Amino acid sequence: MLLRTLKKLREKGNTVVVVEHDETTIRAAEHLIDLGPGAGIHGGRLVAAGTPKEIVRASASVTGRFLREPMRHPTRPRRGESKLFVEVRDATLHNLKRLTVKFPVSRFTVVTGVSGSGKSTLVRDVLLRGAETALRDRRDSSERKENRVVLPPDIRRVLEVDQTPIGKTPRSCPATYVGFYDDIRRLFAQVPEAKMRGYGPERFSFNVPTARGGGRCDACEGQGIKRIAMSFLPDVRVPCDECGGRRFTLETLEVRFKGKTIADVLAMSVEEALEFFKAEPFLTRPLSLLHDVGLDYLTLGQQSPTLSGGEAQRIKLVTELAKPTQGRTLYILDEPTVGLHMADVARLVEVLHRLVDAGNTLVVIEHNLDIMAEADRIIDLGPEGGDAGGRVVAQGAPEEVIRDGARSYTAKILRKFLKTHGR
Ligand SMILES: Nc1ncnc2c1ncn2[C@@H]1O[C@H](COP(=O)(O)OP(=O)(O)OP(=O)(O)O)[C@@H](O)[C@H]1O
Ligand SMILES: [Mg+2]
Ligand SMILES: [Zn+2]
Repeated sequence: MLLRTLKKLREKGNTVVVVEHDETTIRAAEHLIDLGPGAGIHGGRLVAAGTPKEIVRASASVTGRFLREPMRHPTRPRRGESKLFVEVRDATLHNLKRLTVKFPVSRFTVVTGVSGSGKSTLVRDVLLRGAETALRDRRDSSERKENRVVLPPDIRRVLEVDQTPIGKTPRSCPATYVGFYDDIRRLFAQVPEAKMRGYGPERFSFNVPTARGGGRCDACEGQGIKRIAMSFLPDVRVPCDECGGRRFTLETLEVRFKGKTIADVLAMSVEEALEFFKAEPFLTRPLSLLHDVGLDYLTLGQQSPTLSGGEAQRIKLVTELAKPTQGRTLYILDEPTVGLHMADVARLVEVLHRLVDAGNTLVVIEHNLDIMAEADRIIDLGPEGGDAGGRVVAQGAPEEVIRDGARSYTAKILRKFLKTHGR
């Protein structure tokens, strides 16, 4: 419907410029402008411009490659039925019509349906909130008549992974958020030069002022930049004049690990750090996870508030995967592909499967067909938005939904999609 509206706008003599990742929209354009070739420092160039046909032939374009060879589904065998379920009983919130829905444990479930059909209401407002309460109180909610959540004992934790920014301060960065910065600090404290000077790991922290034995630059509190308030204009961020953006005191920067200062390490990209720390297994594990989700180009010290929503979300997923104790968590994601390129979606699919393979239960709300086509189970809400929605119109493995979903828009679109993108 949106595509039809855009075409009408053009027919009236207007010029329509759309920023989009959606494959159908890309293929429907008359002229494409493809930026890249990669992200972050690897991007920022015009890679190709022309009709979709011309982009498909552009060898340097990742977009072209995905149009030429889209993902084939399923990328791995479906996991089949589960014996255990997280159950929502008699959900009546907003437009939900007394729904009882089972989410299989240790499986990948995708909740679909047109806008306003009740997905977020069911998954976030009822399932997530209910599971949090159930875990907190470990109390049976069976006396409640509506919107009940029944958790099997195998679920120990529930977590929503969204695109909101990570870390509360500009001192937070990928290394501190994922948690491997502590290991880096320990490595620096073990260097002979550091031992001689009596520098412990706290010396390399952004959070310890020099008065308490820290080594950060006090002028910028370890941020490397200063914010200057301008009236009527947004704040201006300039490099700290004290440390020149290096975030630490000169004495701290005299300690080198394999020839690099702590500031050099923070300025390394994930890619460079993987090579530099290849002898340190506790660092290569989280770094390879960041590499796997396509965040090679991020620097270890990039300030968290500057990360994009999609980057922040993938860093959260990596943090979960990097945890030594895994499994038994119910993860909830509401439209994780928003803002992601087809290449990023392919990587996200990989991470989601890994979470499930580690014994976790995944419930994802999605409009993206590449994600739906990977589900072990689809729960399709509808048939329409608002009061005309709030029911389950189809459920089962994607193949079953396609076969049985007579009233389901999802079934219709997914059927067409799997004809061109199936195995
Ligand atoms: N706090 C609220 N109070 C009353 N009605 C609400 C509230 N939140 C949502 N609704 C209504 O409930 C229905 C379902 O909304 P919901 O947000 O669950 O849809 P959705 O399937 O997640 O849609 P989308 O794909 O657009 O995110 C909609 O008609 C919406 O207007
Ligand atoms: Mg929603
Ligand atoms: Zn400074």
